[in-house]
Amino acid sequence: MLRRLYHDQPASFEFTPANLAWAKGQMTKYPEGRQASAIIPILWRAQEQEGWLTRAAIEHVADMLGMPYIRALEVATFYFMFQLQPVGSVAHIQICGTTSCLICGAEDLIRVCREKIAAHPHTLSADGKFSWEEVECLGACTNAPMAQIGKDYYEDLTAESLSKLIDDMGAGKVPVPGPQNGRYASEAKSGLTTLKDHEAGRAAHNASVARAVEIGDSIKRIDGTEVPLLTPWLGGAKAAAPAAKAKPAATPKPAKAEAAKPATPKPGKADTAPARPKALKAARGGKADDLKQIKGVGPKLETLLNTLGFYHFDQIAAWTGAELAWVDDNLEGFKGRASRDGWVDQAKILAGGGQTEFSNRVKKGDVY
Ligand code: FES
Repeated sequence: MLRRLYHDQPASFEFTPANLAWAKGQMTKYPEGRQASAIIPILWRAQEQEGWLTRAAIEHVADMLGMPYIRALEVATFYFMFQLQPVGSVAHIQICGTTSCLICGAEDLIRVCREKIAAHPHTLSADGKFSWEEVECLGACTNAPMAQIGKDYYEDLTAESLSKLIDDMGAGKVPVPGPQNGRYASEAKSGLTTLKDHEAGRAAHNASVARAVEIGDSIKRIDGTEVPLLTPWLGGAKAAAPAAKAKPAATPKPAKAEAAKPATPKPGKADTAPARPKALKAARGGKADDLKQIKGVGPKLETLLNTLGFYHFDQIAAWTGAELAWVDDNLEGFKGRASRDGWVDQAKILAGGGQTEFSNRVKKGDVY
């Protein structure tokens, strides 16, 4: 199959702040100079955010990773998991058309897709909500025929149940993934023949379905706020000094990948030793400020700041140059972000009861 970029491309691509933070966290997994190794997860996150991979997104990721565009294009066009054309705004349906599913009725499912969505795969439905394609075995053959919709599997399908799934999703519902014929997991269709004593006390869903329901992002576009940013390979927030005790002139431990590099002096602060700002054990009155109103602070960084003992705008507004340098060095995965995005200046405005253009957008719900 010839995989080409779509003919109608948007002019630009930007990660949401949280997705950008996640992507930068992935880049720190690899030694300096090997950041291109992060291309597949970062392209995937771009697709999770937009639904498909635009040329602008591919080039944006290539720029982040210091790669020639052609190398990023080679990856994006090679792997079929990357969608190179727009997909349905609600869901892209991947019908398994391999042996077990074919024998058990995949052709009926494809007929439903042709009738309800579009006559041809990789084509948007008239309302733009759905698209579909046939894929190779998805490894759920015992529950054939099946489809992957968004992130999850819908199994034991019939033309009727798939048709209902599409209707429900189109109406804004997210049907529970897993078997759609009442089967619990992949036991015999006629029911359990052994281990019957497990049947009575079992949970409502099998483990895969329970996890999918718990996460709840089956057909959601990912903006990065869903799961905490974890960078355990950097020591994570736990590596930072305890929030309660001030540690004067602490020299932060360099991240593993940067261990051999000399510390990079902050512009204009080269003669100032980093000093840990005064931290709090907890938010005053049990209510922290919404630090996400500071441009550059997403949910992950807000959590990290709280972990470090910073809960309020006035704390950040009071950071000296040396303290800002300490914070910059201790933002694991986001080093340098505090000074680069001017947190102190923004915090001064917010601490004084003012608003910034960005905080106004956050309050209006225009920032995700
Ligand atoms: S043949 Fe369809 S999941 Fe394996």
